[in-house]
Amino acid sequence: MSVIENSTLAIVGAGSVGTATAYAAMIRGSARHVRLYDVDAARVEAEVLDLAHGSQFTGASDIDGGADLKHVEGADVVVITAGAKQHPGQTRLDLAGTNVEILRSMLPKLLERAPEAVYLLVTNPCDVLTVAAQQISGLPSGRVFSSGTVLDTARLRWKLARRAGVAQSSVHAHIVGEHGDTEFPLWSAASIGVTPLLDWEREGARVFSADELDTLSDEVRHAAYQVIAGKGTTNYAIGLSATRIVEAILHDEHAILPVSSVLDGFLDISGVALSIPSVVSARGVQPVTTTPFSEHEAESLRSSAQALVEVQSSLGL
Ligand code: LAC
Repeated sequence: MSVIENSTLAIVGAGSVGTATAYAAMIRGSARHVRLYDVDAARVEAEVLDLAHGSQFTGASDIDGGADLKHVEGADVVVITAGAKQHPGQTRLDLAGTNVEILRSMLPKLLERAPEAVYLLVTNPCDVLTVAAQQISGLPSGRVFSSGTVLDTARLRWKLARRAGVAQSSVHAHIVGEHGDTEFPLWSAASIGVTPLLDWEREGARVFSADELDTLSDEVRHAAYQVIAGKGTTNYAIGLSATRIVEAILHDEHAILPVSSVLDGFLDISGVALSIPSVVSARGVQPVTTTPFSEHEAESLRSSAQALVEVQSSLGL
């Protein structure tokens, strides 16, 4: 990928997700300058050194960072990964109180250093944190959003592609709603190539039944729990998902991605951040409000919204 001259990506948080994001950005050449910031000086300096030692073998990005906020100075995109992470048995929403407080203390300092940046929340619960970040920052909703269900959509496309025997890029399916337990697929708009999903055949036989699609969406909804149970965290796929979004911003791609931003009346939902297919560009995000939802899917989105409103209300958001 050709690096956008003099673009700066600042990643806040040098934990497993932040470092995976930095690593992916370097390998993909997502930005000219990759900066890693964390309050834990020893940790972030070691992570930056380890990444720098391999930079001969990566793209054109240069890596630097530390515990000084100067590393966020003038960033074009700030990716926030800092915060408490999900442990086995915890939902993403269980992290809301702790991580909103971390955001309250951190975001004003970041804005001082990078007032023009697009802010991408990755820390969970990313939808609730997006609402908090917009309220704390006062930024227009287009410039503060979260990775939302980009990762869940990638998980779904991976599963569907393997079953269908096609490239993942030919699977047009989205997970929407909360990045969490109430997320759901937009089956009504799903296709492989231009073939509706349920009509897809392999060796002359239909590949997917409605029951199988239900099973697949359950597997996607529980994928993070499965990985966390085995390795204690998820990091590689979310790091790659975050860099994909960063590239859409820095390259002003106007790419359509299911990121999460604060909705303003879509299907009568407002004041809640949910993922629907959205145009991502240098100016940030613009939800595609003509996205078709069946009545059942619209009800599912309203249920997602209700789950988040309850948490937001408990936090005074
Ligand atoms: C996951 C985390 C990023 O879904 O919420 O893996």
